Amino acid sequence: MALCNIKINGKPLSVEEGTNLIEAAKLLNIEIPHFCYHRHLSVAANCRMCLVEVKNSPKLVPACQTKVSDGMEVFTDTERVKRAQAAIMEFLFINHPVDCPICDQAGECYLQEYYMKFDKTLSRYKEEKNKKRKAYLIGPRVIYDAERCILCTRCIRFMEEVIKRPVLGIKYRGDKGYITTFKDETFDDPYSVNTADICPVGALTSADFRFRVRVWELTETDSICWGCSKNCSVKVCHKNNIVYRFLPRTNENVNRFFICDEGRLSYKLIHTDRLNYALRRGNQIDSESAQSFISEIVASDSQNISLVVSPSVNNESLYLIGRLARDVLKNSNIYFVQAETWEEDGILKSRIRDYNYFGFVRVMKSLGLNIAELKTDLQLKKTVLLFGANMRDEYKNILRQKRVIVFDTHTDDFVRSAEIAVPVTSLYEDDGTVINSDGILQRYKRAVESESLAMVYYLRNLLSDLDDEYLFENEESVFDNFLSPLLGIRDMKFAGIPPEGIRL
Ligand code: SF4
Ligand code: SF4
Ligand code: FES
Repeated sequence: MALCNIKINGKPLSVEEGTNLIEAAKLLNIEIPHFCYHRHLSVAANCRMCLVEVKNSPKLVPACQTKVSDGMEVFTDTERVKRAQAAIMEFLFINHPVDCPICDQAGECYLQEYYMKFDKTLSRYKEEKNKKRKAYLIGPRVIYDAERCILCTRCIRFMEEVIKRPVLGIKYRGDKGYITTFKDETFDDPYSVNTADICPVGALTSADFRFRVRVWELTETDSICWGCSKNCSVKVCHKNNIVYRFLPRTNENVNRFFICDEGRLSYKLIHTDRLNYALRRGNQIDSESAQSFISEIVASDSQNISLVVSPSVNNESLYLIGRLARDVLKNSNIYFVQAETWEEDGILKSRIRDYNYFGFVRVMKSLGLNIAELKTDLQLKKTVLLFGANMRDEYKNILRQKRVIVFDTHTDDFVRSAEIAVPVTSLYEDDGTVINSDGILQRYKRAVESESLAMVYYLRNLLSDLDDEYLFENEESVFDNFLSPLLGIRDMKFAGIPPEGIRL
């Protein structure tokens, strides 16, 4: 694409033809304030917050709607521009309640931020403000506060252009206007909470997250969603080892800038029904005893062990499970149990819900192992090593007839009935890699601490006779020493995996 040479505030820039002025200015780290513009949506140009001066143009122009042209000179910080920005802020505040102390958007609200950066003038408005309906459920997961809405239409455009279900609109005009669903139906879309993310003010908020914690107290860690094998990129927001929400993390390769509501709310599972200590037939034991019991069985009865995997385990653990099967147990068959599938929706949701099913298939096949789905009529051996139980009811009875050793994050009746159950870290408590339904490998990072150990730690002990132990030390060493060559990306190091992942 052709390049245009322009200047913004006197600084020269070469930028692709067709780029708008907001995006061009970002390349020079110059912020042009904006409310209605969103990089992934069509341009509405209705808020006028982004007005800038362009040489030889008699009027200020909206930066969101103006594309660069060769030789253009743009000014974002002249007195004229500053007056326009302050005037737009004053206009927006006429009917805005400014109820920041009781607003859940405080800390991530564009009105607050821009007021401090581009306005800071006192209100001259003496008249009574418009009263509109406050904080009500517009849908089961989204709350709307009509008084705070600046009618930027981002939420409307998101539903219409991205989800292709145009269910939102503005009712009435001018200062009477507010957002509603057509025929006032409930806003119960599987992607509804994204509208709260993209709403620049506190008009749309997540019913689940409201008032649980102030956003400036949260730490964000890059991760992926474990809700299905799409592996949408998310930011895990946490404080004091508790996860409070998932937010979409922009990744053009996977989920662009949004996630589904079900995946978003799946953060709750991190702290629900966790297996916190080792069990022997339901009774607590220390993890050293559990480990020595497992090592003894693997050493003394290796001919009599079957391996069953739930493909919700990271690639690093899968690699070590494969090596355990192939090189220690001399068993070339690995069985897997799939979680219930759901309907692929053509937007994000992938049919297979086990979040690393595609990593499982790839790693096991690369190791030359046969994989087969567990069936009720399968002849399993006397002992079953089960990695990540997530067990479906139809298999529980056949497994109960075996000596089951399970490594899992969560507990239920089945896990408690196992001969040995060993607690392991969940995806949000450790580092690792996964491969999604489109063949994209992503790395996730530890967000919160856990007292449990990673699955690789137990596997490493079972494999210690095979290689120098340091080669299996943690996920990073497993990836660098073994997985990257196995996956055909030998030069890629764990620490160098980019935030958007790599296509295999
Ligand atoms: S609810 Fe938010 S996103 Fe929707 S029009 Fe109002 S301010 Fe914009
Ligand atoms: S589509 Fe799948 S991976 Fe993405 S947010 Fe939803 S459940 Fe999570
Ligand atoms: S961001 Fe340009 S007019 Fe709203």
